[in-house]
Amino acid sequence: MLGRSSIFLSRNGSFRPEHLGQKALAMIGNLCFTFFVVGVLIFTIIAATYEPEDPLFHPSTKITTFLTSNTNATFKSVDSVVKTGEDFVAVNQTAFATFINITDVDNAVVGTETEESTVSETQDCSGKVNEPINCRDPEVFHLLMRAAIEKFKDMHFYRFGKPVSGNNDSSCHMAWRFRPNEGKAAAFYKDYRSFSIVRSENCTLSVVRIGDYHSGGNARKRKRKGKDKDKEGFEKLPVKMEENPILLPEVGETVNDALPMVESEGSFSSGKYLIYSGGGDRCKSMHQYLWSFMCMLGEAQYLNRTLVMDMNICLSKIYTSSGTDEEGKDFRFYFDFEHLKDSASVLDQTQFWSDWSQWQQKNGLRLHLVEDFRVTPMKLAGVKDTLIMRKFGSVEPDNYWYRVCEGETESVIQRPWHMIWKSRRLLDVASAVASRINWNFDAVHIERGEKARNKELWPNLDRDTSPEALLATLQDKIEDGRNLYVATNEPDTAFFDLLKDKYSTHFLEEYKDLWDQSSDWYSEMTKLGNGNSVEFDGYMRTSVDTEVFLRGKRQIETFNDLTKDCKDGINTCTSAS
Ligand SMILES: *[C@@H]1O[C@H](CO)[C@@H](O)[C@H](O)[C@H]1NC(C)=O
Ligand SMILES: *[C@@H]1O[C@H](CO)[C@@H](O)[C@H](O)[C@H]1NC(C)=O
Ligand SMILES: *[C@@H]1O[C@H](CO)[C@@H](O)[C@H](O)[C@H]1NC(C)=O
Ligand SMILES: *[C@@H]1O[C@H](CO)[C@@H](O)[C@H](O)[C@H]1NC(C)=O
Ligand SMILES: *[C@@H]1O[C@H](CO)[C@@H](O)[C@H](O)[C@H]1NC(C)=O
Ligand SMILES: *[C@@H]1O[C@H](CO)[C@@H](O)[C@H](O)[C@H]1NC(C)=O
Repeated sequence: MLGRSSIFLSRNGSFRPEHLGQKALAMIGNLCFTFFVVGVLIFTIIAATYEPEDPLFHPSTKITTFLTSNTNATFKSVDSVVKTGEDFVAVNQTAFATFINITDVDNAVVGTETEESTVSETQDCSGKVNEPINCRDPEVFHLLMRAAIEKFKDMHFYRFGKPVSGNNDSSCHMAWRFRPNEGKAAAFYKDYRSFSIVRSENCTLSVVRIGDYHSGGNARKRKRKGKDKDKEGFEKLPVKMEENPILLPEVGETVNDALPMVESEGSFSSGKYLIYSGGGDRCKSMHQYLWSFMCMLGEAQYLNRTLVMDMNICLSKIYTSSGTDEEGKDFRFYFDFEHLKDSASVLDQTQFWSDWSQWQQKNGLRLHLVEDFRVTPMKLAGVKDTLIMRKFGSVEPDNYWYRVCEGETESVIQRPWHMIWKSRRLLDVASAVASRINWNFDAVHIERGEKARNKELWPNLDRDTSPEALLATLQDKIEDGRNLYVATNEPDTAFFDLLKDKYSTHFLEEYKDLWDQSSDWYSEMTKLGNGNSVEFDGYMRTSVDTEVFLRGKRQIETFNDLTKDCKDGINTCTSAS
């Protein structure tokens, strides 16, 4: 009935623009990779020179001095969220110019026919108004795509999945991949919503209601085993380099982060492994955790060995509501383990040790122990033993893992940032918040807390972030009446009530339902915690708050934008910022 267009549509059961061909993909991939490299390069330069306020990013000699000095100011920027791989993929919107627009949809679906001519087949539906809607009908597909594109003007759509039946005869569920058309965060998002459709007496179908974010559960497809299989035309990420894949997280997609299994005795025994044991990084800031973890992962990559890792994380007291260090957290609470295991060879240590004790003797597997961090990875390149174990002592700072990557190693081992992303479950919470404000909001980050109280290091911060000062400063930056997302560590949001006169304000606390006991997040986390509930802790809170902020169309920062005080105290401002 619809001629060539229906062939085009049904090819994968999904819709995407024709011109997003292999060449375009490769080009986008290359562009992305370029941005990534440039990003990492800039980061490295910044890391090496321009951020003296963050000891993490000092050249290593300075870190040592810093960490061993008598002040308790180690890893100062602890209240911020660590940067991960996707943050360095500074994707220019222009690299993704091939989003689907209305014209594409009309051309593809209607072809030479017009809507009217489709309708003309059966003009009279007076007796059929209540008959079930056939969600598989291409006309319905067309209708839903149009409705979505017209309703969500602040999104760019990259793919639509074929609609499926919804909860009743007049509803269909449809999934799509999108990106907000503004904002800095590099990611793709998956949404699936329910559409209520009515048929009028002249047979015209129209969408009367589109449900909330993720309301169309029937269209949420589970990932298949062969994750790159483009079977649904929807599962393979569009941005992918052939040799060195640079991917972007797909937020909202089902997460499959089960621990990897060892296939057989043979494959275990022929493997080569690296493990780090002990050390002083535990319960330190997330910055230090990641800096050390990346060093270890970099060494494993360099040695072509499987990294045996501890999935347990101790969350530092700086992030906990109890005010004490909390053990028993899981790597997967904060980071995207699915992406890690797809990008690198990793194994959970519990599994590893059980296999090791089973097969070590029988197969004569050997252990190479290294107890001095000054033994460089380069010296270990020739080691043939099955397991290399680096043991770290009890004297800080020599027992920090990242010390392995200092000195001459610095120029040899690259920290593989692209393998580490933030937890997509957390990003999904941020994405749900942004969706509730229709991705159409400006954001301000207002840092107060300790810093506002410390007049010695931050003489103006308290005054500059007072409600009156905020109103005055924001006046030239954000239009009256806009949605304004306020990311802040000020616990009492009523403090900002004055802003309500001019803006429609939003705070993270208003979206508690996204992580409370009835939320998707909660049930997924409980599953991950083997039935134990998982607290939405201080680190997650700051993480989500920051991610929502980054999704604002306009982003006003505390330091520079609201106050002239420096981020890390008086006289720490750098020429770069
Ligand atoms: C160490 O931290 C405490 C509280 O965080 C602070 O009161 C104290 O002044 C700090 N000491 C130094 C030397 O910075
Ligand atoms: C990237 O975006 C910026 C503005 O956001 C623009 O000035 C620049 O030309 C873009 N670069 C490329 C390669 O498109
Ligand atoms: C839609 O895309 C086509 C070609 O891809 C382009 O010619 C047209 O201007 C676009 N329309 C809008 C509204 O962006
Ligand atoms: C069908 O489901 C949709 C979405 O769940 C709802 O809005 C609509 O009222 C329902 N219609 C009927 C007839 O129950
Ligand atoms: C069919 O009816 C609806 C309202 O019931 C109207 O909006 C629409 O324009 C009509 N379409 C045609 C082709 O007559
Ligand atoms: C790791 O593998 C690569 C490619 O197979 C090889 O070039 C390199 O020399 C290996 N490195 C070590 C330390 O074995």
